[in-house]
Amino acid sequence: MQVTISSGNNINGTLVLPLFEGEETLPEIVEGIPSSLKAQINRVLGDGDFKAKANATMTLVGTDGGKAMLVGLGKTEKADVHAYREAGATVVASCKKVHGNELTVVFHGADMACMTSFAEGMMLRDYSYDLYKKKDDDHEDTNLSARINCDEGDATALSAAIDRAASIVSGVHLSRDLGNCPPNDMYPMAFAEKAERWAKEYDNAKVEVIDYEAAKRHGMGGLVAVGMGSSRKPCMVIFTLNGDQKGRHPMLVGKGITFDTGGISLKPGANMDEMKYDMGGSATVFGTMEALASIGYPGKVVAITCMAENMPAANAQRPGDVITTLSGKTIEVLNTDAEGRLVLSDGLWKAGTDYDPEYIVDFATLTGACVVALGHEATGLWSNDDDFRTRIHEAGNDVGELAWPMPLLPAFEKEMTDSKIADTRNLGAGRWGGANTAAAFLKQFVPYRGEGDDTEQNNWAHMDIAGTYWGAKTNKMVGHGATGIHVRTMVRLITGE
Ligand code: BES
Ligand code: ZN
Ligand code: ZN
Repeated sequence: MQVTISSGNNINGTLVLPLFEGEETLPEIVEGIPSSLKAQINRVLGDGDFKAKANATMTLVGTDGGKAMLVGLGKTEKADVHAYREAGATVVASCKKVHGNELTVVFHGADMACMTSFAEGMMLRDYSYDLYKKKDDDHEDTNLSARINCDEGDATALSAAIDRAASIVSGVHLSRDLGNCPPNDMYPMAFAEKAERWAKEYDNAKVEVIDYEAAKRHGMGGLVAVGMGSSRKPCMVIFTLNGDQKGRHPMLVGKGITFDTGGISLKPGANMDEMKYDMGGSATVFGTMEALASIGYPGKVVAITCMAENMPAANAQRPGDVITTLSGKTIEVLNTDAEGRLVLSDGLWKAGTDYDPEYIVDFATLTGACVVALGHEATGLWSNDDDFRTRIHEAGNDVGELAWPMPLLPAFEKEMTDSKIADTRNLGAGRWGGANTAAAFLKQFVPYRGEGDDTEQNNWAHMDIAGTYWGAKTNKMVGHGATGIHVRTMVRLITGE
């Protein structure tokens, strides 16, 4: 979707009119409306037939051709950037053939941040995954374009803010494209090839692929154990942005299970197709790198994705196996369906030992238990540093992507390290607190930094996106399928804006 700015008053296509609840009047400043449409809007608003509750819409068609969509922002005092973002998304979701492909948005009393947020909502929601659909009349491409009319003095700054938002949205949409891709076409090396192609687009981006043979040589026992049962072998993909910058830098790690059957601990059949989204963590990380590259972020950022397909096979790992990970620590694999933590053990270890991270954040569709705890409304957020956890929580709040603080307790760590025959076990002792035991397990693979008395564990956060990466019906930014959540959170955290 193309969003442009105009300091004129012309209205192209459908007029979009965001209104506050209780103040439903046509602002005087709106000019250039065909007279019959103007009369209709005034009548509807005057008669109180449109209540501008958050996300309410009404379409009006004038007899002389003009069209308008009224959209509610809710009460003035509650109309913050989030309300504007949702209203923008609602407009696009409500667009039908009758509205045509061109929209002109006329705000009344919105500041720069709110106008940008509205545009962001429109762009985020303007997405569909139809790569695998034959194009016909019912599925014609609707290439929406929107124009925002604003004061002349605001035009340059607003245009820059919306360009930046569009760049970030390109990262969100990339994350969705990767997640929505069917698993016959999305396998570890296919992801790696997409990453390599992406890196060619930017002079300051680099991608390195550690293939199956190299992963075995390096001793990536977690990644290898999960991926070896598939004919499509596992790999690790490392993205570097602005690698020539010196000093500590943010480090992202993503779970990239391109399909999770559960392995020998096979999952039940119902909804197993959804396990194509089990690479959502790696898609989040890839999407974030695209967003950062696209806005021209000048700092260094490194991301690692751990790609594998979890299959049952003659050469698959078994429950009961003990594997040795990159860290040298061993894991008793009690359930092959708890595979995300196995691949992440190598990714986290590499992140903290081969790089100099300011912090490490991992993303993973890790546990069904997290969905039980938080539903589809919030990502589970754990960290070994309270301040860092708060920073991520706040970055998420700022952009309307909730990440909820969860406890990283010593008791859970004890539970995951009391295997009789190995250093750790990949399954808790019972079924309770499954999202917390998973987080406590991951912590065992976050390296320490410094030496002697000064040694301390790297700042690390874990984000379980099992409930938020797809199927979040209340997420207005997306119709269906992958949400692309937390690309915007990470851009906010990393860039501070
Ligand atoms: N990918 C799943 C987690 C998942 C399940 C995400 C449902 C979204 C929806 C993960 O690999 C898994 O299977 N976890 C197990 C862990 C258990 C065996 C300890 C789970 O959650 O049941
Ligand atoms: Zn699993
Ligand atoms: Zn999984």
